[in-house]
Amino acid sequence: MNKLYLLGLAASLALNTSFAGTYTPPAQGKDAFIDSLMSRMTLSEKIGQLRLISIGPEMTLAQIQNELAAGHIGATFNSVVPWDNRAMQDAALRSRLQIPMFFAYDVIHGQRTMFPISLGLAASWDVAAVARVGRVAGSEASADSLDMTYGPMVDIARDPRWGRTSEGFGEDTYLVSRMGEAMVHGFQGEDVSHADSIMSIVKHFALYGAVEGGRDYNVVDMSPQRMYNDYLPPYHAALKAGAGGVMVALNSINGVPATSNTWLMQDLLRKTWGFKGLTVSDHGAILELIKHGVAVDANDAARQAIKAGIDQSMNDQAYGVALPALIKAGKVPQGEVDSAVREVLSTKWDLGLFADPYRRIGKPENDPADINAENRLHREAARDVARRTLVLLKNANHVLPLKKQGTLAVIGPLGDSHTDMLGSWSAAGLPRQTVTLLDGIRTAVGDQAKVLYARGANITDDRNSIVFLNNIILDHTEVQPDPRTAQEMIDEALKVAASADVIIAAVGESRGMSHESASRTSLAIPNTQRQLITALRATGKPLVLVLMNGRPLSLERENQQADALLETWFAGTEGGNAIADVLFGDYNPSGKLPITFPRSVGQIPMYYNHPTIGRPVEPGKPGNYRSQYFDADTSPLYPFGYGLSYTQFSVSGVALSSTTLKGGGTLDASVMVSNTGTLAGETTVQLYLHDKTASMARPIKELKGFQKILLQPGEQRQVHFTVDENMLKFYNQQLQHVAEPGEFDVQIGLDSQDVQQASFNLL
Ligand code: NOJ
Repeated sequence: MNKLYLLGLAASLALNTSFAGTYTPPAQGKDAFIDSLMSRMTLSEKIGQLRLISIGPEMTLAQIQNELAAGHIGATFNSVVPWDNRAMQDAALRSRLQIPMFFAYDVIHGQRTMFPISLGLAASWDVAAVARVGRVAGSEASADSLDMTYGPMVDIARDPRWGRTSEGFGEDTYLVSRMGEAMVHGFQGEDVSHADSIMSIVKHFALYGAVEGGRDYNVVDMSPQRMYNDYLPPYHAALKAGAGGVMVALNSINGVPATSNTWLMQDLLRKTWGFKGLTVSDHGAILELIKHGVAVDANDAARQAIKAGIDQSMNDQAYGVALPALIKAGKVPQGEVDSAVREVLSTKWDLGLFADPYRRIGKPENDPADINAENRLHREAARDVARRTLVLLKNANHVLPLKKQGTLAVIGPLGDSHTDMLGSWSAAGLPRQTVTLLDGIRTAVGDQAKVLYARGANITDDRNSIVFLNNIILDHTEVQPDPRTAQEMIDEALKVAASADVIIAAVGESRGMSHESASRTSLAIPNTQRQLITALRATGKPLVLVLMNGRPLSLERENQQADALLETWFAGTEGGNAIADVLFGDYNPSGKLPITFPRSVGQIPMYYNHPTIGRPVEPGKPGNYRSQYFDADTSPLYPFGYGLSYTQFSVSGVALSSTTLKGGGTLDASVMVSNTGTLAGETTVQLYLHDKTASMARPIKELKGFQKILLQPGEQRQVHFTVDENMLKFYNQQLQHVAEPGEFDVQIGLDSQDVQQASFNLL
């Protein structure tokens, strides 16, 4: 999206580059150095540090040069190669006080090697694998001269209409927290100042995933209890894991935009959580305070944002234009600006940039000859992680794993799509470096089987959707419909299918459908593809659907039509190989859903840990005045935590070390898990707790622990969880974090519904 604007930047900047090695690193410690630096800064230089610009059409290259040398820009994002960033750093160091700049980017699920989208990563339930993704992405990004990423996104998503569901780790507070921490650790490595580490900026603070109706940028209205118990903990967990900063959300919270929300940014973030670090607005959010209807003009917007505690303003001129006059008029205390500047300088210090502004940029002689060179990718890691993220949703009559023999038909608009495999927010990942499903299957079978291919359908034939999808991604070529009619494409697919032993249909969404601003009112696979699936079903051949999508889809019909369903999200650079590994049984699937799959869009919101209610559904008793839909099943199609394997596991009853727990004590809850099948396999054992009677209605169950284990055929293992008082705490009506004495259920199982249960009393 940004790369178009970079061509020629280095050359252009080089003309004016005079800086060459005259920078002297500070001799003092951090605080003394920043004090001394700030005492020498003019107001204009201070405000410059608060200005974060996007490399894009907004500014010409000559302007960027001049502004940097004048000390009017503190940092940029969207510029991703060392030679461009070196030239900009040279310009920044020509400024009067030689304050280095930093370079940020949205490194969400990879930099050059793309891993599965975050929702897929969460489906691995594999903390070590996710930390590995962060580490690979962090080292690739730093090798590209980047200092910072705007990730991870830890917004809880319980409304799959929201396109950004794909960017987060799903619906559950505990799982999202663990995944977010792992990413932070991975990005930042052992020490964020190291040359191969990048700083993590957790986003979007706060509650962005709860936008009304799943419509992006919409309002969030939420009780404090739900915020504190469900939505806020993942941000806090990421900060406790060391994330250096926070990106502030675009939504309002109970009427007050996050960008001007002093309760959120001052009282909660800085005072209650004790956060010390950088806060950055989201793109253009300060001026959007006018549109929100809480600021009369740019001056008012800037005043409110700085007061709330937004340190850096992303890609708007609000601070630069407004702050000098506001300070002069006494409407903004100098101290508020100084605190923001201090955070920016402190971030640069922590990144090691004052010690060496070229820490991640490196020397020109070490620049890669080819930035996209194959040897800069981490394909082995991408394949290993991707296969752990695939979720087997259905496998009737053991149709999977497939044999590498006979004739296989790969059909569907996603079967040979390089671009979609990348997923949204694909940083510097290149479509041509991805392995499509067709590629992966061909490589896997070699000459042992014949592989045929037909596109079968366009991703969608809806003109408005196509125009939309080609406009949200800048090169306008995301979705290129085949000019043939739907029937012509289906006919071709049926011809291919006729000579095949099995049909593998790759269907779902284009990556742009699960993207920022891409909200949907339907969760169905688009119509053209549904017609294709129906036609393929009618052949009577074994039908395997390989699903690619960035949100839960409503799959009731497909669940009936297909023999097997494999959820593959958008699986990244090695996606095709990883999917083939699972299809042919070279890897036994182990992924579990990090988010509930409803039966229909009408069931939303649907999440597994709903608070208890007075009239829960009681199936099989029509007209019984219960909480249900009369026109459809009230249960999800696939519950949270669900996913099959090619082997079978059984779980014994729950053994508790005691039926009472004293405050401050612990108890052990365990089950015996057995692999009763004939293949080795991994599964995730999940611990849920339920507070049976409390001062508030508590969730019917809440995930509080999980362990991913590998069992050989016939092997058994006792899996232990330690339960302590802290795990029983919740924010009560007074927002006190308490564990209330009484009875608790302990549920352990292989998904949120398939559990064994015991109970104990908290004394
Ligand atoms: C807007 C998005 O909301 C945010 O997630 C992203 O980090 C910024 N743009 C910068 O690209």
